[in-house]
Amino acid sequence: MRESIMIETARTKTARLLLDWYDASGRDLPWRRTNDAYEILVSEIMLQQTQVPRVVPAYRRWLEAFPDWQALARAGTAEVIRAWAGLGYNRRALALQEIARQVVEHGLPDSEEDWLRLKGIGPYTAAAMTVFSLKKLAVPIDTNIRRAGARLLLGEPFPEPRDDGKLRPRLAEVLRGSRRFDDLVQALFDLASLVCLKKPLCATCPLGRECPACAGFLEGTHAAPDRTYPASRERKHRNKPHPDRIFRGRILSLVREAPTGLAVADLGPRIDPSFEPANDRAWLDAMIGRLVADGLVMRSGNRLKLPS
Ligand code: ADE
Repeated sequence: MRESIMIETARTKTARLLLDWYDASGRDLPWRRTNDAYEILVSEIMLQQTQVPRVVPAYRRWLEAFPDWQALARAGTAEVIRAWAGLGYNRRALALQEIARQVVEHGLPDSEEDWLRLKGIGPYTAAAMTVFSLKKLAVPIDTNIRRAGARLLLGEPFPEPRDDGKLRPRLAEVLRGSRRFDDLVQALFDLASLVCLKKPLCATCPLGRECPACAGFLEGTHAAPDRTYPASRERKHRNKPHPDRIFRGRILSLVREAPTGLAVADLGPRIDPSFEPANDRAWLDAMIGRLVADGLVMRSGNRLKLPS
C-alpha cells in the first residue's frame, strides 16, 4: 500500500514538472494548434524522417495545396510529388495520399486499432493519432520519446528499441495520471530535442532531480555504447560518398524540375561528378528502376517524367 502511494507521487510529480517546463519552454508548432486529424497526420508523416525546422514551412505549403483528405485523395501524382520537395524520403508523399484515399473511402478511424488497420500506418503513427487527434490514451514511442522516456523512467542512458517493452507500461502510467496526457507526449518530444539530446544537458534539465540517468551523465560515467553494427545500413555503390538514397533524391529533384521530362543520357554526371559510364551505368539504371517501382518516376525509353 505504502509503496503504491510512493510510486503514484513520483509519477504525478514527473508529469507536473514536465508540464510546467512545457508551458514555459515548449515549442509553439503549428500542428499543436489543431485537432484536425488530417492536419495532424500530415505533420506526423513529415516528422518521421525530417527535422522540425524543415517540416514547418513544408507543412504550411502542403496544407495550402491540399487542405483536407478529399483534396489530397483526388490530387494528381505529379502534383503530390512536387509538393513534397525538400522533405526527402519521397515515398512518404504517395503513402500519405494512399492513406487519404482510404479515409475518404472508409471513414475516419476512431480507435488506435482502426488507425493501425490502414495501409501505411505503423504502430507509432497509430498511437500518435490516437493521442493527438482522438485524445485517447496511447503510448507513441519514436526515437526521441524513447531516449527521454527511458532515461527518465528506466534510468537507461542509451536505450534501444528492445527497451520499448519495459518503457511502454512505465510511460503509460505517467500519461494515465494526467488529463493533459497529450501535452505530456509533446513535452517529451521537446525535452528530447532541446535538453535530453544524445549528449544531454543534464545541468539545466527541469527533471534532473527526478531522473535516474542524470548523475551518471553529470559524472561522465555513461559512455555512449560502441556500435557493433554500422550506423547506416543504407546501400552504397563502389566508392560513392553517399548512400543511393541521396542520389535517387537528386534524380527525382531533376525530374521534378523538368516540365517536359528528362533525358537519361546526360543524367549520370548531373547527380554525381565522379560518374564513370563503364562502372556506374548499371547502378544508375537500377536507381531509376527503383524510382519507377516506387511509383515516383515514369520511364519511357530514355526519358523520365513524373507519373500523371
Ligand atoms: N515528432 C513527431 N511528432 C512530433 C510532434 N508532435 N512535435 C515534435 N516532434 C514530433
